Amino acid sequence: MASKLFLTKTFASIESEHQNSQLKRALGPWQLTALGIGGTIGTGIFVLTGLEAAVHAGPAIAISFIIAGIGSLFACLCYAEFAAMAPVSGSAYTYTYATLGEFAAWFIGWDLLLEYMFAASTVAVGWSRYFTTFLDFLGVSLSTNLTSAPFASSDGLSVVLTGSYWNVPATVITLLVTWICYVGINQTSIFNTVVVLLKVAVIAAVIGFGVFFIDIANWTPFIPENTGVWGEFGWSGILRASGVIFFAYIGFDAVSTAAQEAKNPSYDLPFGLLMGLLICTVLYILMSATLTGIISYTQLNDAAPVVVALREHAALQWLIPFVVFGALAGLTSVVLVLILGQARILLAMARDGLLPPAFAKVHANYRTPHVATWITGIVAALMAGMFPIGLLAELVSIGTLLAFVMVCASVLILRYTRPEIPRPFRTPYPWFVCLAGVFFCLLMALSLPLDTWLRLIIWLLIGVVVYACYGRHHSVVRKEAMS
Ligand code: ALA
Repeated sequence: MASKLFLTKTFASIESEHQNSQLKRALGPWQLTALGIGGTIGTGIFVLTGLEAAVHAGPAIAISFIIAGIGSLFACLCYAEFAAMAPVSGSAYTYTYATLGEFAAWFIGWDLLLEYMFAASTVAVGWSRYFTTFLDFLGVSLSTNLTSAPFASSDGLSVVLTGSYWNVPATVITLLVTWICYVGINQTSIFNTVVVLLKVAVIAAVIGFGVFFIDIANWTPFIPENTGVWGEFGWSGILRASGVIFFAYIGFDAVSTAAQEAKNPSYDLPFGLLMGLLICTVLYILMSATLTGIISYTQLNDAAPVVVALREHAALQWLIPFVVFGALAGLTSVVLVLILGQARILLAMARDGLLPPAFAKVHANYRTPHVATWITGIVAALMAGMFPIGLLAELVSIGTLLAFVMVCASVLILRYTRPEIPRPFRTPYPWFVCLAGVFFCLLMALSLPLDTWLRLIIWLLIGVVVYACYGRHHSVVRKEAMS
């Protein structure tokens, strides 16, 4: 019984899925890069940067971005090796199935639900906030009963009623982007690329104009002294902030979920993964340094810190409407890419028999996994309508860090257990990169609060029950092993 939990998926079957894919191969290297940036730049930079600078890291938030960026880079190199070697939908789930076996794969697939679907809901709630700010500019105001969640978290674990009815904008945007994902990968990619150009232009404008208003005094001291409490400034604060702003890096790995839609996966996937991450990292470091340079970090404790910083200087205020619009566009593409990624992971799990076969259906005309797409979109829309942003964000980060740890470990294991498999992209210095990836990601995960770990454990236990009741009875790999 126990040995069946470790049954692995063969690379021959992965190769055959790759050859027989019904999904449309439409994405080139730059479209994949845009997908990575589309799924990455969002709430992290437009919301969390200021909050974390104000309460945990001060101007040294730029160092937190570097730490989170280094952890992500190691994970990204490992993703690139796997994605080029096993170019099928499913990302970390499929890689783990091929190396550590069925149970670990299920575990990661279930964990990835946290990364993609929960993150899509979290970002949709952030979108709703920027949308109401945007409406304010136009002189339109919506009742808060219709723009905020009916449930809130009182102590991190229990849920209370707020008196609001529903977060309508968050639900509507999630359903709209789900529809785009449903009608086709080309439409999704074109929409995403346009939006990515918009948000990158807005960030470049804030950096380009803001740089002339940097006052070095705002960066002094660059690392504010620790208050005596772990995580409040000093180096522990930098580390604490890196665990939270890691949320800003989530999404670059979505490139690997679109592997079956890449035109030339062995080259395009590593390119898209690494280029997307590189561009985001540079923008994050410059943006966070600019924000803390043009205003004191103590004033950035706001859900729209970029707007607060620009308001400080009359000559920068004209940028504010563009920033609000850029943030709206930016968050839209994050929701889009995360829903796209989640649907493809569900498709992979259903194809392996670990989820009901309906999830694996591909639409005859649109050639998208339409059932998985709509189920993902509807569940994400319901969660976005009901829950506040804080409740899920840290859970999303810890889930993603866990997936990164598994991918880094799997790459190293596979180098020794299956050295003969062709690897179109090889992670350099695998011992160092893989172990450093595990180390950095664990370090950031450990910096997150205890109740986040508790919620993760509860979530994973639910996953074990679902696997015991469904997956283990329907697993294709098990059936093949027994026949
Ligand atoms: N990285 C994405 C964001 O910051 C999830 O919104």
